[in-house]
Amino acid sequence: MPNTAKLTVFYDGACPVCEREISFYRRRRGAERISWIDVSRARGTEIAPGLSREQALARFHVRDAEGRLVSGGEAFASLWAALPGFRVVGRVFQARPLVWVLNHGYTLFLRVRPRLQAFARARQPSARGAFPPWLVRELRSDHAGETGAIAIYRGILAVSRSATLRTFASAHLKTEQDHLALIETILPARSRSALLPLWRLAGFLTGAMPALFGGRAVFATIAAVETFVDRHYAAQVDRLSREGSHAEVRSLLERCRQDEARHRDEARQACDGSPGAFARAWCRMVGAGSAVAVAIARHI
Ligand SMILES: [Fe+2]
Ligand SMILES: [Fe+2]
Repeated sequence: MPNTAKLTVFYDGACPVCEREISFYRRRRGAERISWIDVSRARGTEIAPGLSREQALARFHVRDAEGRLVSGGEAFASLWAALPGFRVVGRVFQARPLVWVLNHGYTLFLRVRPRLQAFARARQPSARGAFPPWLVRELRSDHAGETGAIAIYRGILAVSRSATLRTFASAHLKTEQDHLALIETILPARSRSALLPLWRLAGFLTGAMPALFGGRAVFATIAAVETFVDRHYAAQVDRLSREGSHAEVRSLLERCRQDEARHRDEARQACDGSPGAFARAWCRMVGAGSAVAVAIARHI
C-alpha cells in the first residue's frame, strides 16, 4: 500500500524521554495522518532512503510530503506544523531565526539526554505505585502549572501599584497557593517537575510584563491563561469520569477547575472593551506557551 501520510516521523522508541514525547503527540488530533516509525524496532541499516539507522537513533528526523528530510529542532517544528493544535507554534518556529534557536536547543538537549534517560528510567517504577503513569504525568503538569500561576500573580504584585490590580492579584494568589498545596498532598516530591525554577521564571514574566502596560493587559493575560487551565483540568476530569477511577483525585481537580473558571470569568469581566491587535497576539502567545510548557512538564 502506498504511504499517503503527509509526514513521516522517525523516533527512538527505546529512549523513555523520546517515547513519552512521541506518545503525547500521537494522542493529538491530526496524529492519524502522520506515519510514526519507531527506529529502535526497525531492522536493517537503512531506515529510509538517505537515512541510516545510526543517524535516526542519534537525532530526531522527519520526512515531509515532498520527501525532504529534516532533523533536530527543524524536525520538531515540522511535526508541530502538521498537528492542528500546535500549528501556530510550528509555523512560528519554522521561521529562520527561530528554527536556528530551536536547533541549538535540540543540540543542548542531546548533550543532557543520557542524564534525562537515566532520570526517567529511575522514576518509572515509583511512578507506577499509586496512580497510572498517565495520571502522574498530568499531575506533574498540574503541579508545574500551579507553581507558575503563583509566580504570575507575584509578578503582577512586584510591578503594579494599582489598588484594583493588587486586590485582584492577591485574591487569586491565595487560591493558587491552595491549589498547589492540594496537589502536593497527592503528588510526592520525587514525581514533580525537575524544571520548577523555569516555570517560576516563566510565570513571573507572564505576570510582570503585562503589568507594565496596565490593567487591561493583565486582565487579558489572565483570561487567556485561565481559559487554557480550565480546559486542561476539564480534560483530566473527563478522562477520570470516563474511566470511573480515582474519584478523590477527580473531585480535587474539579474543585481546582471551578476556581480557574471563576478566575477566567472575573478577568473577562474586568477587561472592559475588546483587546487591541497587540494584546490579542500576546494572549495567543501566552496560550501557545502554556501548551508547550504543559507538554514539557508532563515529562520532565
Ligand atoms: Fe490554580
Ligand atoms: Fe487560577
